[in-house]
Amino acid sequence: MANEWIVASAPGKVILAGEHFVVKGEPAIAMAISLRARAYVRFREDRDIVIESEDLKVRSVPTRGIVKEELIPIVSIVNKIVEMSNCNRGIELRIKSEIPPASGMGSSAAVAVACAAALNELLNLNLGLDEICKIAYEAEVIVHKKPSGIDNTISTYGGVILYRKGKGFESIQYNIKNHKFILADSGLPRNTGVMVSNVLSLYSRYERILKHVYKASRELVMMVVDALRKGDAEMLGDLMNINHGLLSAIGVSNAKLEELVYIARMSGAKGAKITGAGGGGFIVALVDNSSYSKVMNALRTVSRRVFVTEVSKDGVKIEKDN
Ligand code: PMV
Repeated sequence: MANEWIVASAPGKVILAGEHFVVKGEPAIAMAISLRARAYVRFREDRDIVIESEDLKVRSVPTRGIVKEELIPIVSIVNKIVEMSNCNRGIELRIKSEIPPASGMGSSAAVAVACAAALNELLNLNLGLDEICKIAYEAEVIVHKKPSGIDNTISTYGGVILYRKGKGFESIQYNIKNHKFILADSGLPRNTGVMVSNVLSLYSRYERILKHVYKASRELVMMVVDALRKGDAEMLGDLMNINHGLLSAIGVSNAKLEELVYIARMSGAKGAKITGAGGGGFIVALVDNSSYSKVMNALRTVSRRVFVTEVSKDGVKIEKDN
């Protein structure tokens, strides 16, 4: 028994509307996607804590003072949960993720949520989802400096959520039928922390103008909620296009992202926009089942990573033992 792996998984996400505006308290909509991060934990025979990420190819042994920078947020989660449990046994934690890192698909939050949930299970702490979400948020602060909290929230609860910073979230009905989301990579490096502070700095210099853009985003997000509830894909596509325009206005687009967005639209997507922080990373396009392969093929000519995803109902969960 003592040596069995416990496995927890948590989904990545796509922001459908409201990214960046959410940092200053406006609402945003995120949906959980089918790509997941997994955390495997078990007790060790010795007293060491060993953390390994297969994707990042790094290993930390905090009990021996070996901590690789990439794993600092995870080490903080382990320390916090171990402290809560008063456990003095050695622990092994392995991380594997299907979510491309630094892509805007919430990979760091999904990893943090999965790790917190797996340790909670191993150490029998009985923490609820709200507590797991909070512990993951603290790790996200180390990664992203000023995160809104949307990533750890969607990764914890799954489905589609309307999120307001500091006010929690509301689950949103998703009734769009016969459509998929295509994600295409700009191939450009991106850094959420830098993009967020650039936008905040632009806002402080041009508040008289940009406050109206933030208000427009608020209205837009509420209309996206209506479109999702009604299952109106035409309306959702239009709103994604408008949302992209607002993101361009706050300076997070560039020539490559515009190219991807326009190729998606010209080849038949109902709507296409940057998703996440921008500056690089991915665009998301809404496509109906009949134009899906045409849009995929067109995007493949200009993007080295194109994939298709759907909404995932599942948030964080314990999977069966390995
Ligand atoms: O890291 P990304 O690309 O998923 O961006 C997160 C969304 C932002 O609104 C830009 C930042 C945040 O913390 O909400």
